[in-house]
Amino acid sequence: MPAPLLLLLLLVLCCNVAAAAKAHSDSLHLELVRRPPSPSATTRLDLLRELYRSDQLRQRMISQSIGQRRHGRRPLQAPAASQNASLPAPAPAEESFAMPLTSGAYTGTGQYFVRFLLGTPAQKFLLVADTGSDLTWVKCRRPRGCRRCGRGRFFRPQASTTYDPIRCSSDMCKSALPFALATCPTPASPCAYNYGYSDGSMAKGVFAQESATITLSRGARRRKLGGLVVGCTTSSVGSSFRASDGVLGLGYSAVSFAARAAAGFGGRFSYCLVDHLSPRNASSRLTFGPTPALSHPALPPPRATELVLDARLQPFYAVRIDGVSVDGELLPIPSSVWDAARGGGAILDSGTSLTVLAEPAYRAVASALSRRLGGVPSVSVDPFDHCYNWTAAGPAAEVPKLVLHLAGTARLEPPAKSYVIDVAEGVKCIGITSAPWPGVSTIGNILQQEHVWEFDLKNRRLRFRRSTCRSI
Ligand SMILES: *[C@@H]1O[C@H](CO)[C@@H](O)[C@H](O)[C@H]1NC(C)=O
Ligand SMILES: *[C@@H]1O[C@H](CO)[C@@H](O)[C@H](O)[C@H]1NC(C)=O
Ligand SMILES: *[C@@H]1O[C@H](CO)[C@@H](O)[C@H](O)[C@H]1NC(C)=O
Repeated sequence: MPAPLLLLLLLVLCCNVAAAAKAHSDSLHLELVRRPPSPSATTRLDLLRELYRSDQLRQRMISQSIGQRRHGRRPLQAPAASQNASLPAPAPAEESFAMPLTSGAYTGTGQYFVRFLLGTPAQKFLLVADTGSDLTWVKCRRPRGCRRCGRGRFFRPQASTTYDPIRCSSDMCKSALPFALATCPTPASPCAYNYGYSDGSMAKGVFAQESATITLSRGARRRKLGGLVVGCTTSSVGSSFRASDGVLGLGYSAVSFAARAAAGFGGRFSYCLVDHLSPRNASSRLTFGPTPALSHPALPPPRATELVLDARLQPFYAVRIDGVSVDGELLPIPSSVWDAARGGGAILDSGTSLTVLAEPAYRAVASALSRRLGGVPSVSVDPFDHCYNWTAAGPAAEVPKLVLHLAGTARLEPPAKSYVIDVAEGVKCIGITSAPWPGVSTIGNILQQEHVWEFDLKNRRLRFRRSTCRSI
């Protein structure tokens, strides 16, 4: 055997052995049970460094996934057209349901978590609310059980009367489900998936149809929401999955929870993201159906722009950005940066923390902000490019005003703390990072915080308004 090949084989063997040892013979559950790092052990800067790191990995995953679609991978069908037949009878127009939504900062991550009830009788989970994911999955105990699963929460399919495995021989498995594997040992074998990310994190398991329990907002009545496609993950690896029990797929695709749930509730959903550093008990809501916070008669009408459901960018939600201004000065950014047809485009992502701008936009924004902050003594804080000693800034120092001009005169005017971020006592950094060009830009959850966002899939419209999220 030629030496390089042998070396490769040895590497594979060694790594397989290591993986097997880690997984304790036949049980692959070990990675699942690691619980979140203790919040007291992390400073705000540690948290932001972790967000920065995971955002970089996620941005790579996003570009890769968009790149594949750009290069001809068949996009999934739009939900309204493909799922008509199996949709539940729509609820009355004013009906809605909501689930509690909290910042995951207490676990040392930059995600937002939603409380979710799955199966019959209902089992409780804490899932990452992810607009960038089409697949909903929960960590799952395999029927054979395992002795070393620890105290993590696992879905128990055998304890649910509504759990209905999807067969690998079904059309659904063969053509409709993302990341389904082609392997099909017998026609009745379950439809398996391997949801892999470029950073090496992944979730493996089998698909099933299952019901969730939802609580209707009017009268607080409980109801089943059936026919959901759910992944039962028997093995997952990756830091993003440690702190939660799985992922709630809010992306735009035929099989996502968002499409399925919105279809029965006015074709839309909304969320309000509390400040990302909020404690665990500060909760807002993820709502399916009308958004009362946007139709309040005492408030001016919300901002509205087109929600771009471009097949090239699925399952992500895109917006059209016309420009960015700092203190009223419109920055010179080439329009191609915001154009999905020319290698750019901008998406709104609940699973990314710090906003990521493609290089030409990043350069323009960072230089405009830093020029105006030139009077404040700078400090160096890895990994950020521009940080300031705010203690030494003097009382007159002000954060310049950043505005994203979205198509249709909708201006996103985030609070200063959402883009010039407190990283430590008396230290602020420009909390925007850069991505390679060409490539997509991502509006992260910190820039979205303290706003209500309504994703109106039916009318392809995005509406938003400032809010503390306290009564939402
Ligand atoms: C889906 O439903 C809508 C109205 O409910 C109807 O107009 C449309 O024709 C249906 N589409 C399909 C593919 O059945
Ligand atoms: C959260 O808990 C803290 C005490 O642990 C309390 O001071 C605060 O008011 C609570 N916040 C909310 C929104 O309930
Ligand atoms: C910020 O400036 C103050 C003096 O104004 C100084 O005492 C402090 O050490 C500086 N902080 C950092 C992080 O450089």
